[in-house]
Amino acid sequence: MRAEAPILIFDSGVGGLTVLAELRKILPTAPVVFAADQAGFPYGAKSEAEIAARVAGLLGRMSERYRPRLACIACNTASTIALEMVREVLEIPIVGTVPAIKPAAALTKTGSIGLLGTEATIRQGYVDRLEAKFAQNKTLLRFGAPGLVRAAEAKLRGQTIDAEAIANAVSGLRDQPGGDQIDTVVLACTHFPLLAEELGSAFGSKVTFVDGAEGIARRITSLCDGQTFATDAPSLAITTGPLDRFMPLAPLFADHKIDQLDQF
Ligand code: DGL
Repeated sequence: MRAEAPILIFDSGVGGLTVLAELRKILPTAPVVFAADQAGFPYGAKSEAEIAARVAGLLGRMSERYRPRLACIACNTASTIALEMVREVLEIPIVGTVPAIKPAAALTKTGSIGLLGTEATIRQGYVDRLEAKFAQNKTLLRFGAPGLVRAAEAKLRGQTIDAEAIANAVSGLRDQPGGDQIDTVVLACTHFPLLAEELGSAFGSKVTFVDGAEGIARRITSLCDGQTFATDAPSLAITTGPLDRFMPLAPLFADHKIDQLDQF
């Protein structure tokens, strides 16, 4: 394994930063390519076919260009739809991000779990299978909250957060039969932990939130076990969208030890 080979982290936007933040706690200086498919954002409103073709195509081209040691699809929408397909076409290890239903089922005391994701994620068979496997004796209530994706992007750009998006996410779960019993909420979109504070105040202190970022960072690290990382190899953030819309995020990337921003 080349010591310069980066870890590729892929999302439709800035949600992947929640995974990168956890990864940096374990591997503070490893070379990383953070890829945001801003030209395809948001994934949550797209069809399965469109997401699968887009994600597999982009990851293939990015792997050719950057030759990563592994790729992480830091996006629940893309992972629940395209993970198997991407694993079939790429030869490097692929780490996916799937809704943290298993830990939520272990945590809930009331037996009522809420799941917030994109509209595309909540309708996936992948989620049905996780529910059947890990939460068969629980109630799992799902709600698609695209407003939270936009709110998270706005927050990171220093713009005003749409309070209605937060309120809709709460009522979308609470107003379902059994919703008043929810004590654990799965944040099944990598954008949502960026709104932990706002969601925490809106749901109240009796609700615990669960997301997969820390577990994913641990999985990436264990796959790199025994490998060396060049300390002088650059880390990059790349976007499929216009560079001028990406540049305002530069200070945020610098906080995660990424100093170079490019257009893919
Ligand atoms: N961050 C993505 C996820 O985890 C999706 C956001 C979007 O593009 O709709 O599902």
